Amino acid sequence: MSEQEIRVPDLGGADEVEVIELLVSAGDSVEAEDPILTVETDKASVELPSPGAGKIIKLTVKVGDKVKEGDVVGTIDSSGESSGSDDSADEPEAKAEEKTEAESSSKGGAEPDASKPAPKKKSGGSRTEVVLVPPLDGMEDVPVIEINVSEGDTVEADDALVTVESDKASMEIPSPFGGKVVKVFVAEGDKLSEGDKLLELTVAEDGGDDDVEESGDQDDAPAESGQESKPEAEADEKAAPKEPAAQPQSAVSEPPPPGASVHAGPAVRKLARELGADMTRIKGSGPKSRILKDDVQNYVKSQLQQAQQGSAVATGSGIPGVKLPDFSQFGDIEKEAMSRMMSVTAANMQRSWLNVPHVTQFEDADITDMEAFRKSQKAAGEKKGVKMTPLPFLLKACATALAELPQFNVSLDMERKEVIRKQYIHIGIAVDTPNGLMVPVIRDVDKKGLWELAAESAELAQKARDKKLKPAEMQGACFTITSLGGIGGTAFTPIVNAPEVAILGVSKAAMKPVWDGSEFQPRLLLPLSLSYDHRAVNGADAARFTSLLSQVLGDIRTLLL
Ligand code: COA
Repeated sequence: MSEQEIRVPDLGGADEVEVIELLVSAGDSVEAEDPILTVETDKASVELPSPGAGKIIKLTVKVGDKVKEGDVVGTIDSSGESSGSDDSADEPEAKAEEKTEAESSSKGGAEPDASKPAPKKKSGGSRTEVVLVPPLDGMEDVPVIEINVSEGDTVEADDALVTVESDKASMEIPSPFGGKVVKVFVAEGDKLSEGDKLLELTVAEDGGDDDVEESGDQDDAPAESGQESKPEAEADEKAAPKEPAAQPQSAVSEPPPPGASVHAGPAVRKLARELGADMTRIKGSGPKSRILKDDVQNYVKSQLQQAQQGSAVATGSGIPGVKLPDFSQFGDIEKEAMSRMMSVTAANMQRSWLNVPHVTQFEDADITDMEAFRKSQKAAGEKKGVKMTPLPFLLKACATALAELPQFNVSLDMERKEVIRKQYIHIGIAVDTPNGLMVPVIRDVDKKGLWELAAESAELAQKARDKKLKPAEMQGACFTITSLGGIGGTAFTPIVNAPEVAILGVSKAAMKPVWDGSEFQPRLLLPLSLSYDHRAVNGADAARFTSLLSQVLGDIRTLLL
């Protein structure tokens, strides 16, 4: 015996990875590069290959273990050819040759070793093999819950033929050979014990032994391995259950309660993993809600369909969509295609609303003095050809607050668990246009004066209304101001323009009585509504931000400090 350790290879920079599936067991024959087990990093799942051909002696890890590059995960006996060293591959034939087909055809007939193939008949370039139920971990009379093949199907060695399920576990019975299914002897609900006849296969004579030797998880074998296996897609198609396909929608279910287990065989789990399908969201159509390959495929189809149905109505995050009644039953209706801008805006709003935990902080700023100053600049503005509105003051005040409280000038990278801090202050302004909402961006607001900001915001707003904004003029904002002050309202809760983490909503300023300690004074109060991403910003900082805005707008001389 030549014992060789199987070690974790270079993981492309990943430190510790979790073992999520063992693809072989002790005693299995494998070829070099055959997958041994699957590990999962933050970004992908990776199959660890066998360092050589041979027979697996043992695996020293289990599902859930953490491993890193260089760790030993098992040992392999590579003393001979992998298949040649697998005595069991030849042995059954010798035993099987001695039996007659009649002997083996009686269901439940005791076989000396039921895992070995039953008698075979040779005919020309092929032979017929009767596949028997292998040892079932000591269990008897275990019900068949799924038949994975039909007569006429082509199967590869190790393809799941049937699935049986006891009270404690379900188990797929693999094919010992590649070949064509001639006859299936069992039906769903039948109770099987070791040695029972499962099905009859026609196995190509010249490639027959090879089929047995190549049984090292054909499912996982890479296409480059040179094995004469059918393309995986075709094999899967053949091996897939032949029950009528479930409708895509029916494959999607509400997530099961936390801790609920997923009911599916390894091949189905593998398929789901390859397609990136979350099995906890898939409704099984098999017996006892078992998830079948069709269910996984239908689930993926339905997800793709949803995405293609238009981003504006895509529900995302698995949230059930809103079903529309036939409105014409209530009265006359007209249908009109959404403009591109409307559907893009709708998708952006929904994405932000779903992804960002929003909180809104309200504050009133006393802008009595600011307004007096602004109005005093009217003549100067006329000379310059620029109208001074409250917006430039708001831009300047926000730039001051962003500089003072830089936790508002960030974006979150939740995948990498990073906070991206910006060293610049670019602010987007929401502009109401006949075509919908547009958000041009004023760059380096902190470095510009009020007149410059007034001119630039007016110019960008006009460009937005004239549909003349360039894409670059709508990118790079750290923060957004949305002002409805020229229209009305006392407060609102704007949606954060993710990946920014905060947005200031401005409502209409109104004269209100303010108690100065001895009497009420008429003061012009500007309602501010700051919505923020509560993952990035805490409530205390939000209150500091709006207080600072209120202070700066209340005394604009502070902008000079
Ligand atoms: N309170 C009271 N009056 C206000 C005000 C406020 N908060 N903000 C502006 N005004 C006044 C202005 O002073 C101006 O009055 P005046 O002509 O008597 O001087 C008038 O309202 C109109 O101002 P406007 O032309 O809107 O200029 P602006 O610089 O304040 O706003 C935009 C520019 C681009 C922000 C604005 O035109 C706009 O499109 N707002 C809508 C944004 C939106 O739709 N947001 C919703 C997103 S969900």
